[in-house]
Amino acid sequence: MNRKYRKTVIAGNWKMNLTASEIKPFMEQLKPLLPKSRPCDVVLCTPAVMLPAMIKAGKDAKVAAGGQDVSKYEKGAYTGEVSAAQLADIGAKYCIVGHSERRQYHGEDDMLVNAKARVLLAKGIVPIICVGESLEQREADLTMEYVAYQVKAALHGIDATQLRRCIIAYEPIWAIGTGKTATAEQAQEVCEGIRAVIRKIYGARPARAVSILYGGSMNAKNAAELLAQPDIDGGLIGGASLKPADFAAIVAASDQ
Ligand code: 13P
Repeated sequence: MNRKYRKTVIAGNWKMNLTASEIKPFMEQLKPLLPKSRPCDVVLCTPAVMLPAMIKAGKDAKVAAGGQDVSKYEKGAYTGEVSAAQLADIGAKYCIVGHSERRQYHGEDDMLVNAKARVLLAKGIVPIICVGESLEQREADLTMEYVAYQVKAALHGIDATQLRRCIIAYEPIWAIGTGKTATAEQAQEVCEGIRAVIRKIYGARPARAVSILYGGSMNAKNAAELLAQPDIDGGLIGGASLKPADFAAIVAASDQ
């Protein structure tokens, strides 16, 4: 982290877990566990249908709500899709785009991720842009090349002012939901590389202001070491964000 230049963000990704009725009891447990003086921005990303409940329950605990996906289209005949305007209208402040599960199960490619990031920015929502390599790519020594491409493609056409409102999340696919966390050195190396890619496109100042999160089996035990890395500005947390005590411990670990 480097609080002088950028925000620390701890974001939970609930994926397709829990229900809207479980949010209130969850927040009642979470709120007293969160540190009084908040060391970071705290976000929980839920399925769109649960966002109104999350926004309501999160107000008091100062937990912002985020979506997990958005349509690239502004509006119209796209049955089942949710637009950036609809997310903004109900009060979502963040939205994940390009999560590896969407890339894998829904065929999302880098240009689609870019289009989604842009519609979110146009409606004032912070895109949390996910990138990350597979195990095969890591073993073939292609990690940085691949991740650099993903970052460049996702940021295509986004200007320096808009970049200030973007968050990048580095999530190595092999670490997601597997209990296999990247080591702090591995995570730092790629996050530093991502910042270097951004520096090349936008220059030093914008690059040092972008928050880059790590995601992939981050938990209450390993969070402090990961967050101590200079280019890791927070976490995108799956499994551990479903447990109030674990999630609160990760938030607390960002106070360093
Ligand atoms: P886990 O923390 O469960 O590995 O999930 C990470 C993730 O995919 C967050 O978006």
